[in-house]
Amino acid sequence: MQRERDILLTAHELSAKFYHYLLNNTEAGRPAKEYLRSRGLTDKLIEQFMIGYAPNNWDVLFKFLTKREYDPALMERGGLLSPKSDGTGYVDRFRDRVMFPLWNREGKVIAFAGRIMGDGQPKYLNSPETVLFNKSKNLYHFHQARPDIRKTGQLVLFEGYMDVIKAWSAGVKNGVATMGTALTEEHVEIIRRNADEVVICYDGDNAGQAAILKTIPLLEKARVKQAVALLPKGMDPDEYITAKGTDAFVREVISQPVSAMKFRLIYSRKHHTMVEEEGRKNYVMEAVSMIAELESTIEREFYLKELAREFEVSLDTLKQDCHQIRMQLQ
Ligand code: GTP
Ligand code: MN
Ligand code: MN
Ligand code: MN
Ligand code: MN
Repeated sequence: MQRERDILLTAHELSAKFYHYLLNNTEAGRPAKEYLRSRGLTDKLIEQFMIGYAPNNWDVLFKFLTKREYDPALMERGGLLSPKSDGTGYVDRFRDRVMFPLWNREGKVIAFAGRIMGDGQPKYLNSPETVLFNKSKNLYHFHQARPDIRKTGQLVLFEGYMDVIKAWSAGVKNGVATMGTALTEEHVEIIRRNADEVVICYDGDNAGQAAILKTIPLLEKARVKQAVALLPKGMDPDEYITAKGTDAFVREVISQPVSAMKFRLIYSRKHHTMVEEEGRKNYVMEAVSMIAELESTIEREFYLKELAREFEVSLDTLKQDCHQIRMQLQ
């Protein structure tokens, strides 16, 4: 088994280099290179992230690997090849896709994410779960981000590969991403062991914002300090950087995160109609019940005061309500 793992690791390493070579040095790779350029990726970034291209062909990788005497059945178990539908052999799993190698903590390539260049489904085709790759235990680019995470004590959590890459170009080198799954307890454990604080920087769309709400309690449970970096509605970090530049991203987004509580309040506020008295009342009540769950008296007072000021309710009233909710919580 160890031997299979080792063979698969070298096969992945070779495949990543092969795809990278095809992107940079062949005619077939040219549109992919253009695609990456149009998304703002420089040659240096393409190099740093070893991005590649899998041509629109059924057997380039198959031939490449079998010529080097890799067993196709094993390559299929490793997620590099797929069985032919009639069961007579194997074809390349990834075709006509921009290839992002995924690494383990030791910096070994263990899987790929292949992005389609236009529209179409799936947008990202990932390697399946294999003996090397388990997406619930892997964070994209962790091996390269780790030194910076250790140095700063801080980790920035993104949703996507492109976000990590573009953030890196902005000098944010402590960024990692989950790979199209929700954050798991295994991810949290890796984070807890390596960082003092997490800045969550998910997409400014509904899915991203809802994912933040689910991520907060997981980090809370592990007692990891956290804050949330906010993006304009509908923008993800990659799009923000393209639109506003790397400096603005660092200055306006990464450097100005809000507390988890503040994020929850903002989120709840957006889901109530503030022009109607009913909506305002419901929001204040919901806000108080969220604030009631905070352990620190100082923090509770801080948020209640804000609420009192904004909605012209007396602080005493809010405190009383808050106290009552806390009694019920116990
Ligand atoms: P770009 O459009 O290339 O910038 O990708 P994105 O990161 O902005 O994608 P999106 O916000 O839609 O999704 C966030 C992350 O979810 C991606 O980076 C992927 O890891 C994952 N993801 C998105 N679409 C798919 C898919 O079709 N299949 C799988 N397996 N993962 C996906
Ligand atoms: Mn290179
Ligand atoms: Mn999204
Ligand atoms: Mn996105
Ligand atoms: Mn994006």
